[in-house]
Amino acid sequence: MNIALLGLGTVGSGVVNVLTNNSDKITKLTDEKIIISHILVSDVDKQRDADTGAAVITDDVNDIIEDDTIDIVIEVMGGIEKTKDLLQSFLKRGVHVVSANKDMLAEHIDVLTETANENNATLAYEASVAGGLPIVRSIENSLNSNRITKVLGILNGTTNYILSKMAIDGWEYNKALADAKEKGYAETDPTNDVEGIDAKRKIVLLSRLAYDRKINMSEVQVRGISDVSIVDIDNAARENLTLKLLGKSTYDAGGLCVSVEPVLLPSTHQLASVNYEMNAVYVNGNAVGETMFYGPGAGSLQTASAVVSDLINVIRYKDAGVKNFAPDETVEVNPDSGAGRHYIRFANEQNEAEAALNGMSVEFKIVDSDEFVIITEAITNKQLDDLKADRLLDIKASYQIDGVE
Ligand code: NAP
Ligand code: HSE
Repeated sequence: MNIALLGLGTVGSGVVNVLTNNSDKITKLTDEKIIISHILVSDVDKQRDADTGAAVITDDVNDIIEDDTIDIVIEVMGGIEKTKDLLQSFLKRGVHVVSANKDMLAEHIDVLTETANENNATLAYEASVAGGLPIVRSIENSLNSNRITKVLGILNGTTNYILSKMAIDGWEYNKALADAKEKGYAETDPTNDVEGIDAKRKIVLLSRLAYDRKINMSEVQVRGISDVSIVDIDNAARENLTLKLLGKSTYDAGGLCVSVEPVLLPSTHQLASVNYEMNAVYVNGNAVGETMFYGPGAGSLQTASAVVSDLINVIRYKDAGVKNFAPDETVEVNPDSGAGRHYIRFANEQNEAEAALNGMSVEFKIVDSDEFVIITEAITNKQLDDLKADRLLDIKASYQIDGVE
């Protein structure tokens, strides 16, 4: 069985290492000799963290396109439009594709699935959401007897690593981000990680599977962690609250809500103790009730675990004639209500802020009066919008508290 590996970076080298280290088990499971025949990279001279054996290492994708002995392509190189076109060209020829590329999949999964189904090919993407944590196939294959109403979790390893380093180890934001890059958790350009875009892509991919609906990513509200201050993390800790970047979606009679934002959770909440690069996802189904999945959200071997598992399953079931999961209908995304208790830090003097809060009938307790920091009782969206719009108020930070119910 000939495999082309597109990319030999953090994940690609992990794939080679897992295939090498676990070859006996993988050969037994697949009943095939798996040969990585070609590897696509940008720089053929770079030193690699994996023994690539006899594979042809090339920077010319045509070496792979023109080789019709390739049965499966593993894409772990990133990129959106060109990568989608390339993978679509393989699917059109009936070549199976395994991809970890959530950036591309969140935009193009519907068209790629359609192409795969028309050509009896498989498109597998377990590693695209939450690294080594098995969530894609859990929703698709193990919870498919349920009507799913909620998916919620910590879906980005880099931001969880940064927030944990700040809260637990007292690190500065930039030092924690640099360390996450060094460890291979962050994307090459980590903007998408810290601005919540990566988590948005993942919650969209999971929601599509969970609710059997196509979802337009541009409709999803997102807020990242790039403006998070250690001051707020420390203030929150004194109130037994922990800041986490959550991706959340619900689908019920009220329609679909999807959002990504940093939320303060009670420190006793299970998600509050999911730290560093670990991810966790809750899925609620009408038969099973609440389920929780926990595991490493990023990393070389960790992500390769999911990629190679996809590879094994593609080989095992390639002749079964099972179509890829493909929703028929598109559903519009409503914004998350945002209502609830809020932590707010003002730059205003206490009396100035208090007067405005009282004028809007917002009930609150004072957390710190040096800088005026409060925790409100549950407020409506309108009250929150009014507070943010009041030109006399200077809000330095605001976070919803325990938005997970
Ligand atoms: P990476 O370390 O930057 O590796 C990317 C690899 O692809 C490199 O080997 C690079 O070649 C090659 N490459 C990139 N663009 C190319 C192009 N246009 N032509 C030829 N080769 C190209 O990235 P990574 O962290 O392994 O991530 C790979 C994919 O997996 C991304 O889609 C990422 O979002 C996803 N992912 C990553 C993780 C993680 O923990 N890192 C987890 C889940 C999913 P050179 O080595 O020569 O530069
Ligand atoms: N940059 C991503 C993260 C990699 O930090 O979660 C895994 O998708």
